[in-house]
Amino acid sequence: MSTSNRTIVITGASSGIGLGLAEAFLREGYNVVGTGRSQERLQAAAKQLNAGERFLGVAGDVGAPDTARDVFAQAIARYGHVDVLVNNAGIFSVKPFVDFTPEEIEEQIATNLKGVLYMSQQAARHMGERKQGRIINITASLAMQPHGSVPALLAVALKGGLNQATRALALELASQGVTVNAVAPGVTATPMHPADTHAALGSMHPLGRIARTDEIVAAVRYLVGAEFVTGSILPVDGGFSAGR
Ligand SMILES: NC(=O)c1ccc[n+]([C@@H]2O[C@H](COP(=O)([O-])OP(=O)(O)OC[C@H]3O[C@@H](n4cnc5c(N)ncnc54)[C@H](OP(=O)(O)O)[C@@H]3O)[C@@H](O)[C@H]2O)c1
Repeated sequence: MSTSNRTIVITGASSGIGLGLAEAFLREGYNVVGTGRSQERLQAAAKQLNAGERFLGVAGDVGAPDTARDVFAQAIARYGHVDVLVNNAGIFSVKPFVDFTPEEIEEQIATNLKGVLYMSQQAARHMGERKQGRIINITASLAMQPHGSVPALLAVALKGGLNQATRALALELASQGVTVNAVAPGVTATPMHPADTHAALGSMHPLGRIARTDEIVAAVRYLVGAEFVTGSILPVDGGFSAGR
């Protein structure tokens, strides 16, 4: 049963930026379909969000094509349609390039790239038919400005590729009324980074601190409301990508 006429799908909604997005869009009156691998973490998020029928958790690995089909089928069955997709689920690893194992490379490609492709295909078909919709990718400022002291080649390669894919998909979908944009966060205070690393990480940003999740959420909210913006990559990074 639909409880609102607007629905957003947020991948990786059980933690960090995704959980912040779920909170914010519930407050705005959206139905929220939140994903993650762990059913337990999604249940904990649902309890914290306390939104009743307006929050639907769907567990599944975004790297598997079946997950995207399942998420969109459940979202449409419950709420009728999807207005916004935020491709937020992601993993990050800092280590010298030569130390990545084949398994780690496969996992990063599956989560950070294939997940976005499968989810976006579902969204593009559904939103294209409706002649309206928003796809927003959460990429990374580091992909626009690699940093010598943060060896994270896989993140740079995959999120950098997503920034370009954002522009290409924006062009493909423009005539169908669907906009495609990206938010590229600098380091953000989420469970991805232990609290005792925040000060050192903050010092790498010209504005001298890391981002709060609500600052990333504000950028996504802006792009959801922006009718004449597509193919843009919006850094929210305290100047990290501006240069040195
Ligand atoms: N935090 C930062 O400093 C930062 C900076 C730049 C960009 N970003 C990007 O922002 C996004 C969110 O990051 P965050 O810091 O909020 O991360 P987080 O707190 O670690 O949360 C990650 C979320 O993604 C889900 N997830 C991870 N792998 C998944 C998979 N294979 N399938 C489905 N769900 C999966 C997690 O749930 P489960 O573990 O239950 O699957 C969790 O809900 C990521 O794309 C990240 O690359 C973050």
